[in-house]
Amino acid sequence: MADYLSQNVNKVTTHFLQRMRQQGEPIAMLTAYDYSIASLLDMAKIDVVLVGDSAANVMAGYKTTLPITLDEMIYHASSVVRAVERALVVVDLPFGTYQGNSKEALHSAIRIMKESGADAVKVEGGVEISESVDRILSAGIPVMGHLGLMPQSINKFGTYSVRATDPKEADKLVQDALLLERHGCFAIVLEKIPADVAKLVTESVSIPTIGIGAGPHVSGQVLVFHDMIGITQQFSPRFLRRYHHLGEEIVNAVSNYIRDVKSKDFPNEKEQY
Ligand code: KIV
Repeated sequence: MADYLSQNVNKVTTHFLQRMRQQGEPIAMLTAYDYSIASLLDMAKIDVVLVGDSAANVMAGYKTTLPITLDEMIYHASSVVRAVERALVVVDLPFGTYQGNSKEALHSAIRIMKESGADAVKVEGGVEISESVDRILSAGIPVMGHLGLMPQSINKFGTYSVRATDPKEADKLVQDALLLERHGCFAIVLEKIPADVAKLVTESVSIPTIGIGAGPHVSGQVLVFHDMIGITQQFSPRFLRRYHHLGEEIVNAVSNYIRDVKSKDFPNEKEQY
């Protein structure tokens, strides 16, 4: 791999992400929800590990991200933090723990930081959650924003389609990004929006933007690990690049194990005491 600025850093911080943006080095972020996968991502030198509330879909099999609880997010986040030495660990505040009540938002963020040892939290929304963002930041907790497709608002929009395709929505998105920057967020995830809108947002703010389905004109990219490695096979949006077909490999390996057990080929003489 080329000698990127980030390859020589012992611990990625929010300030380091800002430096990466300034120096034009793209930020690589992936999700993890458990110790084993998180340690592999850290070994590969990923910049940011996101303990996303997509754990609700990927780990627990829920149809939306809404049901996952704060306690469950803390469980996933602590497992990840125990594995990660180098990457910045960001944890999603789950639905219902920060919207509409900034005191509760602060309480939720403090629980995540204290009980998991994570480095930062992520919240979905702009002006609607600005009080919560302020209060969390006032306790010295770094906040990552999330605009565009916001899965926690699925019941308001009814679909997971591309967001900000009309000028009014695109303008609100830019205003929300500017507001999050003004309030002190250290980065913003932009999910499933047209590439030219993501470019406009990135040019309008000076903090890093991290895209998922937002094209190339952003400061970094994020994908759900289980999607990019091919474990979740049904989910196939246009923006997803699959780097492996691990789902197929796991099914093959398990089939071979079943075959060996049934035929009494396993265990052999070397595999017993
Ligand atoms: O929960 C999650 O995994 C996310 C990413 C899709 C950005 O928020």
